[in-house]
Amino acid sequence: MERFVAGPGAEILVGRKLDRGLPERGNRERVAVLTQPGRPAEVAAEIVSALEAVQTRLIELPDRDAAKDLAVVGEVYDELADFNLGRHDTVLGVGGGALTDVAGFVAATWLRGVESVLVPTTLLAAVDAAIGGKSGINRRGKNLVGAFWHPSRVIVDLDVLDGLPSVLRLEGSAEIIKAGVLADPLIIEAYAANGIEADLDVVVPRAIAVKAGIVSDDFREASRRTLLNFGHTIGHAVEILASLPHGFAVSVGMVAAGFVSNRRFGFDVDWLTDLLFSTGLPVAAAGVSKAAAIDLIERDKKRSADGVRMVLLRAVSDPTIEVVSADEISDALDAIGAV
Ligand SMILES: NC(=O)c1ccc[n+]([C@@H]2O[C@H](COP(=O)([O-])OP(=O)(O)OC[C@H]3O[C@@H](n4cnc5c(N)ncnc54)[C@H](O)[C@@H]3O)[C@@H](O)[C@H]2O)c1
Ligand SMILES: [Zn+2]
Repeated sequence: MERFVAGPGAEILVGRKLDRGLPERGNRERVAVLTQPGRPAEVAAEIVSALEAVQTRLIELPDRDAAKDLAVVGEVYDELADFNLGRHDTVLGVGGGALTDVAGFVAATWLRGVESVLVPTTLLAAVDAAIGGKSGINRRGKNLVGAFWHPSRVIVDLDVLDGLPSVLRLEGSAEIIKAGVLADPLIIEAYAANGIEADLDVVVPRAIAVKAGIVSDDFREASRRTLLNFGHTIGHAVEILASLPHGFAVSVGMVAAGFVSNRRFGFDVDWLTDLLFSTGLPVAAAGVSKAAAIDLIERDKKRSADGVRMVLLRAVSDPTIEVVSADEISDALDAIGAV
């Protein structure tokens, strides 16, 4: 088992045959377990059956981002009221990133904040969504309502991640490769050698270490946390316009950012493109509207007064945040096949 810290009191445990116990807390009486349909609900049921000396209530939310909805959160609050979940009690979230986001938000707001514990069951949630204390729901746009709320424990059970469907494995791999190019060449080596079969026991803890290290330096996204947006500026536009899963769009966005990095700093974008492609990730979004993409990028919240800011790479493990020109964005969109 490996252990990391990503925020005040926020302990992350990663391993196999993990003890899925909750942190010690003398006066905890109740645990509300929030989960999603399917495999997460099975994992949640296993955890509930092992919890002793507390009352539990299992609450199954709608799948995916349908759970990140104020009306759903309202129903959960009603259940917590019926269950008498008190200030020394715990919200336990078991599921993918959508579920861990909403569970964190419920914990942050119920009684002005109760303990949360998260058990991410997708690769994306394990290396990204459940790490770093951001919780939230969607309203008008994605994640527009939320709070920073650190779980007291995140339990990453690699046995659960082994059985993921390939799309979910690929999506998470995009974020892991992102962590690798930002800060950890050993992650890159693992993907270069084994593609999508890269050893989870190696790459998951390493990717968590990268994110935990960055967010521990900067809880509220003032500066260094922005580095985690590598691939996301153009990636977000591609996600919306090409209706790609988030991780796939980030892969395309990393190629685009790699292209700008190549023009500025001589970064080897062909190497990065080959790595993503040989892992099975998309490296282009052929036919996406360039004008629509530029419109979305300009409106992105990461835009500063002086222009669009993007995370670029001088080299692997040497990222930098730069203001990029309209021409550079235009050329990067050409490079990923926008028209
Ligand atoms: N808080 C953050 O910092 C942060 C960062 C990145 C992403 N996110 C959020 O994470 C969400 C995307 O993450 P996701 O793709 O994990 O979301 P998800 O929760 O929508 O899960 C995707 C699908 O996988 C299924 N699933 C979950 N575990 C499974 C398992 N073990 N086996 C088989 N199927 C399983 C779910 O039921 C769902 O259908 C988005 O809502 C995004 O906004 C948050
Ligand atoms: Zn992402």
